[in-house]
Amino acid sequence: MIIYNKANNTFTLHTRNTTYQMKVDQYGVLLHTYYGARVTDADLSYLIRRADRGFSPNPSEAGHCRTYSLDTLPQEYSTCGVGDFRLPSLELELADGSHIADLRYAGYEQRERKYALEGLPAFHGDGGETLVLFLEDAAAHVTVELYYGVFADYDLITRAVRIVNRGEETIGLCRAASLCLDFQRADLDLITFDGRHAMERGFNRAALRPGVQSVGSIRGTSSHQHNPFVMLCQQDAGEDHGLCYGAMLLYSGNFEAAVERAQFEDARLVMGIHPYHFRYNLAPGESFTTPEAALVCSPQGFAGMTHCFHRAIRERLVRDAVVGRKPVLVNSWEATYFDFDAEKLMKLAQEAASMGIELFVLDDGWFGKRSNDRGGLGDWWVNQEKLPGGLSALADRINALGMQFGLWIEPEMVSEDSQLYAEHPDWALCAPNRAYTRGRSQLVLDFSRQEVRDYIYGELGKVLSSANITYLKWDMNRSLSEVWSAALPADRQGELYHRYVLGVYEMLESFHRDYPHILIEGCSGGGGRFDGGMLYYTPQIWCSDNTDAVDRLRIQYGTSFCYPASTVGAHVSAVPNEINHRMTPLETRGVVAMSGVFGYEMDLSRTTAEEKEVIARQVQRYKECWDLVAEGDYYRLSSPFGDAAYTAWAHVSQDKRRALVSLVTGTTCAAPPFLTLRLKGLDPHLCYRVNGEESYPGDVLMAAGYALPMFKGDYQSLQLCLEAE
Ligand code: GLA
Repeated sequence: MIIYNKANNTFTLHTRNTTYQMKVDQYGVLLHTYYGARVTDADLSYLIRRADRGFSPNPSEAGHCRTYSLDTLPQEYSTCGVGDFRLPSLELELADGSHIADLRYAGYEQRERKYALEGLPAFHGDGGETLVLFLEDAAAHVTVELYYGVFADYDLITRAVRIVNRGEETIGLCRAASLCLDFQRADLDLITFDGRHAMERGFNRAALRPGVQSVGSIRGTSSHQHNPFVMLCQQDAGEDHGLCYGAMLLYSGNFEAAVERAQFEDARLVMGIHPYHFRYNLAPGESFTTPEAALVCSPQGFAGMTHCFHRAIRERLVRDAVVGRKPVLVNSWEATYFDFDAEKLMKLAQEAASMGIELFVLDDGWFGKRSNDRGGLGDWWVNQEKLPGGLSALADRINALGMQFGLWIEPEMVSEDSQLYAEHPDWALCAPNRAYTRGRSQLVLDFSRQEVRDYIYGELGKVLSSANITYLKWDMNRSLSEVWSAALPADRQGELYHRYVLGVYEMLESFHRDYPHILIEGCSGGGGRFDGGMLYYTPQIWCSDNTDAVDRLRIQYGTSFCYPASTVGAHVSAVPNEINHRMTPLETRGVVAMSGVFGYEMDLSRTTAEEKEVIARQVQRYKECWDLVAEGDYYRLSSPFGDAAYTAWAHVSQDKRRALVSLVTGTTCAAPPFLTLRLKGLDPHLCYRVNGEESYPGDVLMAAGYALPMFKGDYQSLQLCLEAE
């Protein structure tokens, strides 16, 4: 619900459990008064107290009143050059060379449907309302439109900003954040999700320290290193208690999430495109739209916030080609790498089909001259030596087994050893008079250029129409360097990082339009581009190249704070694990992978009869409980980052009548203690039968807990299926 109160000039956004408020003050400055638990309508600006603060200057309208300063007031969208010295949200370079932006309120508009953003990912319109606030810098002739999407049922507020040049001279946009959120307190913890290739999205929590702390990426992608989702919370907040905020940027390129704890113990979060090498020219009449950001506030801990993001992402963001259960897949990568022919693949597919697996994915190596990762990228035609008869011959044989057929692609890349590079060396990102920096021995195509995108899309179109393909894995295996485009003038090179992302989005949108039946899985060396922007186009993303069940506990735990299990690609692979050489039981690998979009990534033709039986049972179990994983509420029952004896989590159906509880132990020791697992999210008044055997009241399972058996051996696991009686 959006309420404009004319008497006191406040805009109040109510969701089911939260309230967000802004106020236009006596000088037309848009102040942020409150974001927190839902409260009745009131002007909350009484919370803003003023004092004469030395060295915090005063705008000219305030005359000699020294208690009014932009440096101390909570701003809705912070400016620069006019006395607020905290983090700016907007930075303009005007034609006269000044870097000043002074925004004053100029009106508002309310719409019944949530806004859309052209060419950018955004939550869908249904079930949301829009508020647009117009701010103006009269001297610069710039209008800033603040967009708010209010999804009451999901406690979700989205934001985006459009900056319009209404003057007669070109201006430069040096910084344009999607989100600014001021807090009149600084006793908060910042939580970020950080890591590296094959160890993405670790959980890091620390109290705000004075000054600016930030995470971000200047790699051209959202990155393995820091995720564009951050949290701020009360220092005593946990899973089930305490005020917490989550902020997610729907963007797959350079980003920054910065928090400043300022001098008077107030705090500001600013999130958006990273200002590094960002400079957009806005000619008279032109506008720039920022990516969308989404906020959830949970007055009752992390789990509540997670549930809001999960439901909103599932129901209002992803656009899925598959309605209902996703096919259980087998991916050829860890089974064969580049070394395969049709017969080897068929053997893998036959084994998979006999175990109930439904989709065969042919990973890297099927095209051009691609016998290792040094060549072939860009030549999107089938390698007839490996696959005589082409993809259609293989797909037909796979289909004859009753399986679907899917394919790996990496459209944004080119190998120097390729026909494409020989013909168009200038299509790769490169800078004049400089050598290339290679990443995984490959170069990045300049996806800001229409002709490059058109060529790649045309070639991939031929592949897709050559065979019955129902799944694509869209990979992206290096960061961007030498970010310079032969197609842009010098004063527009600062637009390239963003234009690259827009190019990727445009092609993904074309796939949606032209091949609506194809399920696309995103990937970037595993989870290097796991963000809300990609989820709009690729409803699932390969979570990590690390398939070790124990490391995955951490990776999937961190991922779970914002992103639902229905979007997390998770596969069982062979042991010792390729990446860390760890041995884990097959049963445990299954339990961990089942907490995502399930599949296998191993040479099934080399499994024993006993393992085949375990796999067939796992596939069957997933088919029986997939809806809990895909649609249930997710509860973290313990953290893999602490010293708990086990990591446990649960998926509980929306009606609370069913649940799937999973647990994995750590390393074993002699004479271990007996352990108990306290569940969450059940109906205290229902009685649940556990694995078809004993029944327990819900309140008992949550307060007293489930008595765990004694586990023998390292990394053991347990899965409990709960059914209400
Ligand atoms: C990346 C992906 C892997 C696999 C390889 C193929 O690393 O994350 O899953 O597809 O590329 O080269």
